[in-house]
Amino acid sequence: MKQKTFDYSAVILTGGSSGIGATFLASILALKQKVVICNLSRHKPESIEGREDCYHFECDLSQSEAIEAVFPKIQELLREKCPTGRILLINNSGFGKYGKFEESDLATQLNMIELNVCAVVHLTRLMLPLLIERGGAMINLASVVGFFPAPYMATYAATKSFVLDWSLALREELKEHKIKVLALCPGATKTGFFKVANATDFKVKFQSAEEVVEEAWKALESDKGFVVSGFSNKMRISIYKFLPLLWVARSIAKQFRPDGN
Ligand SMILES: NC(=O)c1ccc[n+]([C@@H]2O[C@H](COP(=O)([O-])OP(=O)(O)OC[C@H]3O[C@@H](n4cnc5c(N)ncnc54)[C@H](OP(=O)(O)O)[C@@H]3O)[C@@H](O)[C@H]2O)c1
Repeated sequence: MKQKTFDYSAVILTGGSSGIGATFLASILALKQKVVICNLSRHKPESIEGREDCYHFECDLSQSEAIEAVFPKIQELLREKCPTGRILLINNSGFGKYGKFEESDLATQLNMIELNVCAVVHLTRLMLPLLIERGGAMINLASVVGFFPAPYMATYAATKSFVLDWSLALREELKEHKIKVLALCPGATKTGFFKVANATDFKVKFQSAEEVVEEAWKALESDKGFVVSGFSNKMRISIYKFLPLLWVARSIAKQFRPDGN
């Protein structure tokens, strides 16, 4: 990311403790300018240890009470440490689960919706008055699977479809406030995601989190509504666009079927 293009005095980031979020965090920490960073996740990111202007509030974002409880702390932090300047909100925390829905754990499926969907809506709605008042932007983590139904990752893909559509709609609403909204749509990326999803056998081409984050910065700078990261992912999505959704779902079912039958 180019130094001069980063015109935010504060960043509120979710999930900076691992993967894509940790990479967003590292690239902001590498900037020479002063930026107040506030990370929300269950674990503290190692990279912020001993760093000035970098704060971690432990928060399980799948719990709405935890979001309500942490928001006044964010407000206070911004008031005390960074009262002016534009704010960047990065809604990154999320997880997926791979497997047959009929065999899935219901509590985990519901927890996924709470984190991937409800927390994004909740935190954004609480933060929005500050973004409108001070100016700002938002990056929401969607996914390539947000573009199509994905059997055996059905709930996960549907949560990302929500994030994608919701971000594009919000982007139009927020234009009058000059707030940029970017839906970031990575394909398979080398992070802890696949282990959490129980999908370690996936034979696909992975991007690095650094490649994904670099594409996100460029897309935000040029005010794109969404960006699909990586050439092969871009190609795949542009082909899928012309195919009937039912056909795409059937084809994904063949690729993703856990027992290969
Ligand atoms: N990797 C991929 O292939 C891929 C592709 C497309 C989209 N994405 C999306 O990218 C985002 C980041 O995922 P990743 O690939 O970087 O996976 P990751 O390495 O597993 O990181 C997930 C992050 O989410 C946080 N998180 C999980 N549960 C949370 C909770 N209950 N409350 C607060 N934070 C929570 C984790 O922090 P704690 O454990 O400390 O809470 C962690 O920092 C997700 O939204 C994911 O859906 C990933």
